Amino acid sequence: MTTRNIFLILALILTPLVVYNIFIQHNLNINIILFLLLVIGWYDYFQIRYSILRDYPVIGHIRYILRDISPELHQYFVESNTNGTPFSKNIINLVNKRADDNEEFHPFGTEKDLYAKNYTYLGHAMFPVKKMEVTPRVVVGSTECKQPYSASLLNISAMSFGALSENAILALNKGAFLGGFYHNTGEGSLSEAHQKHGGDIVLQIGTGNFGFRNEDGTLNEDAFKEKSNLAQVKMIELKLSQGAKPGHGGVLPAKKNTQEIAKIRMVQAHTDVYSPPSNPSYNSYESMVKFIGRLRELSSCKPVGFKLSIGIKEDFITLMKTSIDKGILPDFITVDAAEGGTGAAPIEYSNNIGLRGEEALLFVNETLSALKIRDKIKIIYAGKIISGVTMYKAFCRGADICNSARGFMFSLGCIQALKCHTNTCPTGVATQNKELQEGLVPKQKSKRVEAYHRNTVDSFLEILAATGVNDIKDLTLDKLKHV
Ligand SMILES: Cc1cc2nc3c(=O)[nH]c(=O)nc-3n(C[C@H](O)[C@H](O)[C@H](O)COP(=O)(O)O)c2cc1C
Ligand code: SF4
Repeated sequence: MTTRNIFLILALILTPLVVYNIFIQHNLNINIILFLLLVIGWYDYFQIRYSILRDYPVIGHIRYILRDISPELHQYFVESNTNGTPFSKNIINLVNKRADDNEEFHPFGTEKDLYAKNYTYLGHAMFPVKKMEVTPRVVVGSTECKQPYSASLLNISAMSFGALSENAILALNKGAFLGGFYHNTGEGSLSEAHQKHGGDIVLQIGTGNFGFRNEDGTLNEDAFKEKSNLAQVKMIELKLSQGAKPGHGGVLPAKKNTQEIAKIRMVQAHTDVYSPPSNPSYNSYESMVKFIGRLRELSSCKPVGFKLSIGIKEDFITLMKTSIDKGILPDFITVDAAEGGTGAAPIEYSNNIGLRGEEALLFVNETLSALKIRDKIKIIYAGKIISGVTMYKAFCRGADICNSARGFMFSLGCIQALKCHTNTCPTGVATQNKELQEGLVPKQKSKRVEAYHRNTVDSFLEILAATGVNDIKDLTLDKLKHV
């Protein structure tokens, strides 16, 4: 039984007793303390702003009290504000402030060690330019594409319904709708939760073809055709690999594979669901490229691209040369960083396999330029994009569009408890437990998703102006200064 339900039972028993003791018997003593705790508890139970307090009435406040005094505790006992991993407290606080539309000023000066090795900075201009009034968008879709898509500079990276809860998907999609950016489904396919609010969708096909699969795991063309032709679906992304677990595929633990999720994925409920390391629909460069062409035909020529983490560089070069030979180029390539996130992955893969994001992005940009196809393909980048500065750096290294997964998770209320694979996520973000999900109220969190996006893009545009740049196209490597 969850803490929320335990509170409900206790409160239903204690409230009439305490009220009777105080107001009829005029017996204050302990009753007055119980009364105050009950008032706080009932308030926590019904409020929709804080997930933790809804799921843990009264005792949830301990977390907030600890958080409030953590700078003091921190100073003496634990890590600094800047060296927490994967994301530091300063960064998580920044997302929370942006998601709450709060001021985000930091007092007293930087806590970062500016004298650390490999320090990179951006050069501000002597005469900063005016901040752009209209936020630019990026059109994806080559000549082959009959339904080009105009994308935001920052979007929600792939995270499946399965890895994330239904309420998280509802909040993300509504946020995307409110802010005019896209929401990538991840490999778990398209659910009703993705469609309820009408936010733009990038439909991902994972190596397991979940949602559009035949019994043998290959692509079920009819099912794919039906979903990819929905008006809400703007682009198609074939996932070749993911930075946190390249060459591994993935697993949806049985605990999270509910009846509903199994139906959407076209798999058996309550079993561990493995996605294979590679899609069984192809087994060579040529057949992979033809598969991309087939996806384009089936989706009535919407933009089609693929996502990968760079491993053996020659493999990527061969893939692109085959694409050129066959005359089937992807409309976009999403580069995922080895330091990228996941719902669940073997730690050896996350720690050791795949190229780091910065180098991977540079490599893909340079390869496409060397092959003279850079102008035909948009590069999307995902890898710890969380702020205006991280966007700026990614554009300098060759990205046209940025995706963020964990940034948007923080905007949903994620506290980096690192339990995403256990189905016990305390904030309702990464759990299929309906009771824990009650803490995450989509209506309220969608506003945070939208605000986080808006304020982050705004911060990027401000930094652009501060560095004297009028056009994102002018962001090149020389804008990143090294000491
Ligand atoms: C909970 C979670 C689930 C994810 N699921 C998918 C997925 O289904 N497909 C995929 O291509 N990437 C998936 N990813 C990877 C992200 O889309 C993204 O590429 C990666 O986390 C890097 O972005 P970040 O640093 O902003 O988190 C997932 C990441 C997280 C954190
Ligand atoms: S709060 Fe913890 S378990 Fe939940 S999504 Fe965030 S990191 Fe994962």
